[in-house]
Amino acid sequence: MRFTPQVSLVLPMAIRGILTIPGVTAHCSDGLVNVVFNSDSHDKESQFSQMPGASNWLTFAFGTQPKQIPMLGNDKDAVDKAIAAVNGPNPPDYLLTFNEPDHDYKTGKVILHPKEAADLIKPLLKSPGKNTKFIAPVPANQTSSWLFDFYNECKCRDFFAAHNVHIYRPTVEEA
Ligand SMILES: *[C@@H]1O[C@H](CO)[C@@H](O)[C@H](O)[C@H]1NC(C)=O
Repeated sequence: MRFTPQVSLVLPMAIRGILTIPGVTAHCSDGLVNVVFNSDSHDKESQFSQMPGASNWLTFAFGTQPKQIPMLGNDKDAVDKAIAAVNGPNPPDYLLTFNEPDHDYKTGKVILHPKEAADLIKPLLKSPGKNTKFIAPVPANQTSSWLFDFYNECKCRDFFAAHNVHIYRPTVEEA
């Protein structure tokens, strides 16, 4: 998921893959499950409530508001926060893990190398709570070896209930 000015929609492949559609052409389809808010500047819950076809929403941030799928940040504090949430009284159904850790759009550099990501996520693998399903990290570059290298480092492929795939195509068919 890239930080673009449009509101993007995420379709059900979500849980195996994510398709985003530019806001102009987007409408709620039967299969829509996620709404992605690309900014944090508005009241997400009230915006979300106006999208009857959608079942949950996310931003680039961590949070445990109703129907929110939190996104894990890429440092130790973020992992600690996630551990507290998934083991707390109100665990999220799903937790997105690292978002495009292989590419920082500001600097062009890798944010987390696979081994760094594997080390960072280790405490969460040990304390995953009981009610949360984890969505695998998603590389910006789908053809790179980042995710395989990460799995090789962490030996944690089975920990994840779903893959997340970033595909930028205007229609479901093309995706
Ligand atoms: C994505 O990864 C492939 C395989 O490593 C590489 O050949 C390609 O240049 C990468 N694409 C970008 C945009 O970095």
